[in-house]
Amino acid sequence: METEKKTVLITGADAGLGLSLVKRFLQGGFAVFAGVHRSMDALNVLASEYGDALSLIPLNVADLESVRAAARLVGEQTNSLDIIINNAGIHLDNSKLPLEQLDLSDQHLQRTMDVNAFGPLRVVQQFLSLMEKGEMKLVLNISSEAGSIADSKRENQFVYCMSKAALNMQSKILHNYLKPRGFNVLVVHPGWMRTNMGGPSAAINSDESAAGIFDLAAREPKPGDPIYIDYRGEPLPW
Ligand SMILES: NC(=O)c1ccc[n+]([C@@H]2O[C@H](COP(=O)([O-])OP(=O)(O)OC[C@H]3O[C@@H](n4cnc5c(N)ncnc54)[C@H](OP(=O)(O)O)[C@@H]3O)[C@@H](O)[C@H]2O)c1
Repeated sequence: METEKKTVLITGADAGLGLSLVKRFLQGGFAVFAGVHRSMDALNVLASEYGDALSLIPLNVADLESVRAAARLVGEQTNSLDIIINNAGIHLDNSKLPLEQLDLSDQHLQRTMDVNAFGPLRVVQQFLSLMEKGEMKLVLNISSEAGSIADSKRENQFVYCMSKAALNMQSKILHNYLKPRGFNVLVVHPGWMRTNMGGPSAAINSDESAAGIFDLAAREPKPGDPIYIDYRGEPLPW
C-alpha cells in the first residue's frame, strides 16, 4: 500500500454504494482500505486493476473483535487514515409490516441497531488513533432521509428509521466531541439507489451517489456548514 496517497476506509464495500465508493476513490487517486463483509468477488476484480492502491480488509462492523482486527491490519499498512466512510448497513424490515404484526422478539431488530447505529461507533473508536495522524480527519457516516425525525411521514419501518435516527445523533455527538481536535463529521443521505437494498425501481444508481459523496469529501468545510446533507450537498432537517 502506498502511503503518500490520501487514505480512506470504506465499510460494507463488497456491494452497492460501498463498491461504487471504492471505485470512485480509487479513480480519485486515494489508497483505499475496503471493508469486506461476505464476498470479495467484485473487489478482487478491482484489486487486479488497481494493485497496491486497494487493500481488502475483513470487517464485520457488528463484531468488536472484527473491527479491532481490521484496525490492526490497516495500521500495519499505513501510519495514518484521512477518511472513514461508514457505509455498511442493513434494512431487514423492508416488508413494511404494520405495528400489530411486527415481531418485537425478532433478533433482526437488535441486529439492525447493532449494524446501522453501533457499527459506525465501533469503527470510529477503533480507528481514531490512525485518524488523528491523518490530514483530512473526515468521518462520513452514510445515513438516510429515513433517519430524519423532522421529515418523518412513514407509518412503519420502525427499526430501520430508528437505527438511522440513532446514527444521526451519534454523528452530531461525534461532531461536538471531535471538532476541537480538527475533525469534520458529515452524515449523508445517499439518495434512493438501485442496489440490493434500494431495489430496481430506485431513482439513481450507486455510481451517481458515490460521485456526489466523493465531491462532498473533497469540499473544504466552513464553520457552521450543515452536516446532515444529501449526496448533492443539500441540507436535511434533523
Ligand atoms: N439503497 C438506498 O436506496 C439507500 C437509501 C438511503 C440510505 N442507504 C444507506 O446506504 C448504505 C449502503 O446501502 P446499499 O444500498 O449499498 O446496500 P446494499 O447493497 O445492501 O449493501 C450493503 C453493504 O453493507 C454490508 N454489510 C451488511 N452488514 C454488514 C456488517 N455487519 N459489517 C460490514 N458490512 C456489512 C453488505 O455486505 P454483505 O452483502 O456481504 O452482507 C454490503 O456490502 C447503507 O448504510 C444504507 O442504509 C441506502
